[in-house]
Amino acid sequence: MEKYLINPNEKIATINKDLYGHFSEHLGRCIYEGIYVGENSKIPNVNGMRSDVVAALKEMGIPVLRWPGGCFADEYHWKDGIGEKSKRKKMINTHWGGVVEDNSFGTDEFFELCRQLGCDAYVNGNVGSGTVQEMSEWVEYITFDGVSPMAELRAKNGHKEPYKLKYFGVGNESWGCGGCMDPEHYGNLFKQYNTYCRTYNKDNPISRIACGPNGGDYHWTKQVMDKVKHHANGISLHYYTLPRDSWDDKGSATEFDRNEYDATVSKAFRMDELITNHLAAMDSVAPWKPVKLVVDEWGTWYDVEPGTNPGFLYQQSTMRDAIVAALTLNIFNKHADRLLMCNIAQTVNVLQSVILTDGKKMVKTPTYYVFKLFKEHQNNTLLGSFITTEKLYSANNKKEFPQLVESASVDENGVIYSTVANTSSTKSAKIKCQIADTKVKSIKAEIITEECHAKNEFDCEEKVFIKEFTSFRQLKDGFTAELPACSVVKFTIER
Ligand code: AHR
Repeated sequence: MEKYLINPNEKIATINKDLYGHFSEHLGRCIYEGIYVGENSKIPNVNGMRSDVVAALKEMGIPVLRWPGGCFADEYHWKDGIGEKSKRKKMINTHWGGVVEDNSFGTDEFFELCRQLGCDAYVNGNVGSGTVQEMSEWVEYITFDGVSPMAELRAKNGHKEPYKLKYFGVGNESWGCGGCMDPEHYGNLFKQYNTYCRTYNKDNPISRIACGPNGGDYHWTKQVMDKVKHHANGISLHYYTLPRDSWDDKGSATEFDRNEYDATVSKAFRMDELITNHLAAMDSVAPWKPVKLVVDEWGTWYDVEPGTNPGFLYQQSTMRDAIVAALTLNIFNKHADRLLMCNIAQTVNVLQSVILTDGKKMVKTPTYYVFKLFKEHQNNTLLGSFITTEKLYSANNKKEFPQLVESASVDENGVIYSTVANTSSTKSAKIKCQIADTKVKSIKAEIITEECHAKNEFDCEEKVFIKEFTSFRQLKDGFTAELPACSVVKFTIER
């Protein structure tokens, strides 16, 4: 029996709702088809946005959305995507399949999408191939409330009122697709570009995100941190979970053996080490901790589904992805004091998507249900908690990883939410939870569990979803439970 302790007296930090953020890039069928179908589509839509997808994302709880990339951000020229649609410039999406981008989804459409979703906006600017003036004018177009050329242009396009811009990213992966820069060079460019991205509305300050490292590149973090420590609010980290060690042979999203399952899960756990070590690297440069960490790209990355365009990065999603999502969100919760935002890649039809579409059909993936299950943690207070756990071993990755991973939070009414993932694909786990200084009134529990290959498919009955969980026993000050293999459980505890 594993011991699980929750301490409601230890209130650690607010879990910023934006740790549950998403990312939508002009990549494959994410924006076009997946989200935006245009006003004249037969697929039900409001101002061009698919009504089924918008409703599903709202129900799941989407606090913030990043756009327009990704690699696409550093070749995107925003003025090509505003005004009369038939007159908008067409361009080649060089990163993603070389397809024609007709710019019919641009700035005004993105803010309309955020309005429909009721979420905050994170726009990523172009440092790689854009100018300082272009970036400065974009921020002016989005946020300026007064007399100016860009505010007038926005009004001419039907939007007199400025939009609310919560986050602005200055470049993306500037060490790679965003310009192949050295950290010192990028750090200087950040300061230059950022200077001209004015905060026009003091009541609505923009959090500025500097391009951070790829995986374990601590040198990049330190160099960039040194340049941006007085200017940025966040530094972004990108980390993807690949089952294998090769980008040319990442492994299938749906066909994998037990060793590959274990390797995927053990590699996903690296997120904890990366967050801890990048924060230490940032602190070694600026011990007063002026900048937070942002994980604005994360998730599983497999070989594309057979027969699909390799440039579109379309992949299916299974219970394995649900486990990766659950363990990662628990890790994010535990680091709530130092994280500003996290964005899974990518919302619809790309990597670890929460929604897949096929024409007018739509499915919610296992990852969707994990986000939905965890949504009560958003803006709650993280509590001190600890669980003992058996260590599992990944033969392929040659690393141990914990079978159980948890986090616990409390809402403003004193209700405790505890999410526990059992990462083993074969073994159940018995736990005994004790909540300090607490008399439990009632407990409800919900579960996502299936065999690790289970997935939701078009035209089939949904297999993976949230069900009621009853295999637990309430105690005076906690509970005991048996968590099935490959499961994610949420306990809602009233006191
Ligand atoms: O999410 C797909 C791509 O991965 C993004 O465009 C890029 O930033 C990263 O390399």
